[in-house]
Amino acid sequence: MRTFLAVKPDGVERGLIGEVIKRIEDKGLKIIGLKMIWLDREKAEEHYAEHKGKDFFNELIEYITSKPIVAMAIEGPDAVPVVRNLIGTTNPAEANPGTIRGDYGLEISENIVHAADSQENAERELNLYFNEEEFQEY
Ligand code: PPS
Repeated sequence: MRTFLAVKPDGVERGLIGEVIKRIEDKGLKIIGLKMIWLDREKAEEHYAEHKGKDFFNELIEYITSKPIVAMAIEGPDAVPVVRNLIGTTNPAEANPGTIRGDYGLEISENIVHAADSQENAERELNLYFNEEEFQEY
């Protein structure tokens, strides 16, 4: 199974790219695609289309476009739920210690990482950030 993860602008700025990669690799998952990109508003709105109209939508788009992100394609057994468990719950204040958000975050508006929450969203998000030819199978 494949999933999509992004280190968000606050994670990049705080120097947590390596820590996130380390936790994914330590778990035994394989990173098959990796790139740093600076999202424009259009692509950010496409990514978060399901949240359009919510009161936090504009704040979310401003934040995700404020600095670069690091996008990753990850492969492994049950990659979608396994990566969701590694990152912890959406609000870092409530996330368990031992998870990325639980160990490094405090605010929901700056929660360090994003990961696809279903296989359907994983495929949609992987297609948004990568072309199939970019994946390195090894
Ligand atoms: S919902 O309404 O339950 O579907 O929303 P939720 O899953 O909790 O959050 C969806 C994404 O929006 C982000 N979020 C916020 N960003 C900025 N400010 C505020 N207040 C805020 N509230 C929620 C949240 O981190 C989720 O982003 P991703 O990247 O999917 O984790």
